[in-house]
Amino acid sequence: MTTRTPVPLPPLGFGLWKLAPEACADAVYEAIKAGYRHFDAACDYGNEAAVGEGLARALGDGLCRREDLWITSKLWNTYHDPEHVPLALERTLADLRLETLDLYLIHFPIALAYVPFETRYPPEWVFDPEAPEPAMVRAPVSLHATWAAMETLQAAGKVRHLGVANYNSGLLHDLMAYAQRPPSVLQIEAHPYLTQDRLIRLAKDYGLAVTAFSPLGAGSYLELGMAEAGEQVLEDPVVLAIAERHGRTPAQVVLRWALQRGTSVLVKSTSPARMAENLAARDFTLDEAAMAALSGLNRNRRFNDPGAFCEEAFGTFHPIYD
Ligand code: A2P
Repeated sequence: MTTRTPVPLPPLGFGLWKLAPEACADAVYEAIKAGYRHFDAACDYGNEAAVGEGLARALGDGLCRREDLWITSKLWNTYHDPEHVPLALERTLADLRLETLDLYLIHFPIALAYVPFETRYPPEWVFDPEAPEPAMVRAPVSLHATWAAMETLQAAGKVRHLGVANYNSGLLHDLMAYAQRPPSVLQIEAHPYLTQDRLIRLAKDYGLAVTAFSPLGAGSYLELGMAEAGEQVLEDPVVLAIAERHGRTPAQVVLRWALQRGTSVLVKSTSPARMAENLAARDFTLDEAAMAALSGLNRNRRFNDPGAFCEEAFGTFHPIYD
């Protein structure tokens, strides 16, 4: 469908969601020391200043050069209005202590009412947490208008690549129809319980690179009450058997499956041992039978679903996947 070559995203990225600000600078520093060169930040993670501190320390100590790093961040839902898009990027760049981003993504196809930086940063989902019934407040801003503002940032040289996260195939078709500057990356939840084969195929047909978040599955969602203990990909008997056969850990098997099917992955750990364990997913190969068995585990189980968590946590029913 396209002749575009996907961007050379370092395939094994370090995710920064839910890293407590006080642990974040050290985690980033350790991850760079361990060999990670791709970092996935976001305004909404509430830790970009700490990420910036870790990056500055690592660069200052000469662990790598800025041009060796791939730094992604994401436009938050409350800044979709074209007049707020450049302000959001400036704040992110200042916090990360960077001149430019390698990739800027629309975090969710969800536009919420603007909350000024002075009121709350990051503003998260609820418009007024002090209200008697806190809820999300939608903003009437089209994704097309937001994308055009993102394109302006790229034209100005502030971001090297643009992309989107949490888009479905309908939104992706639409984006490809109006984009003057096409997206380079689609970031979505993907793991053996949510393989997303059709969406990944479509994105690749359009020449996008695909990045999988939550590649280990339930992990982070257990502590958030968004997954049950019995839903852990890393404890699935098929994963355990393949790990045993290859002399690898379950996490390495699941990450390897993702890399081998042509997605990049975002994985995080605060433990240097697990950072190294996860990076070593680059160093072996799964045979076709193992790849097929892992893909066969699909049960379309989406852990990160605004249609579920927004109502429970933010008082607002706001599905984006049907
Ligand atoms: P920890 O930081 O204690 O190592 P995700 O990136 O999908 O949000 O998942 C992150 C979760 O998975 C964290 O709870 C992290 O815990 C855990 N994790 C990271 N690497 C591994 C691994 N190799 N084996 C098991 N759990 C891991």
